[in-house]
Amino acid sequence: METNKETQNVSMPRIGDKAPSFKAVTTQGEINFPELYAGNWVILFSHPADFTPVCTSEFMTFATMESKFSELNCKLVGLSVDGLYSHIAWLRTIKEKIEYKGMKNVEVKFPLIEDITMEVARKYGMMQPGESSTKAVRAVFFIDPKSVIRAIIYYPLSLGRNFDELLRVVMALQTADAFSVATPADWRPGDDVIVPPAGSCGVAKERMEGKEKDVTCHDWFFCTRKIDKEKVLGTIKKK
Ligand code: BEZ
Repeated sequence: METNKETQNVSMPRIGDKAPSFKAVTTQGEINFPELYAGNWVILFSHPADFTPVCTSEFMTFATMESKFSELNCKLVGLSVDGLYSHIAWLRTIKEKIEYKGMKNVEVKFPLIEDITMEVARKYGMMQPGESSTKAVRAVFFIDPKSVIRAIIYYPLSLGRNFDELLRVVMALQTADAFSVATPADWRPGDDVIVPPAGSCGVAKERMEGKEKDVTCHDWFFCTRKIDKEKVLGTIKKK
């Protein structure tokens, strides 16, 4: 089989893996990852380059939404293969000069990792040579309080991320954990959730007959139940 030399030996952490460890310099000081974030959810994300327009729109959006992630006990950590002084100058430009879609004076308070050696970007599969061998793709790693990778999304250089979706993923993962359920297509807090398969034929039959409180079965393998939006948000939001 023909292999592309550039794509050999690329490390790609997967869902369910422990987040690979690294020490790094950031705009907020040195960090020891993921140890520093144990007990928190964290989104580790990469962007292709400082002083580029799509990335600027993304950073302004992320910084503006940071409090929404914080309410979910979720920290943000950015990375690109630029150096620290580039990061500092870019974030200062964003704060002092850029006004975009009603956002202005936007201060990026979460850490932005410098990774000029590409060591971290390579460790996390953020360098994808088919797309670019000099810039990280737009990767998003959702990491839980036990430092386990729970979801991963990759976008190409030209495509800015949907930040409502990133928030939705955090809420859905936390809801699945808290209530031992799954979340259906396009789920948002307040929508019905999917209950695990019945453990016995007796329970399945009762469910199908509509005898289980708040449970609706569309077929024996597809049952949903209501959880109020207030109950979901009251459970997953930081007290
Ligand atoms: C951008 O963020 O605008 C961008 C960065 C790298 C390549 C293409 C676009």
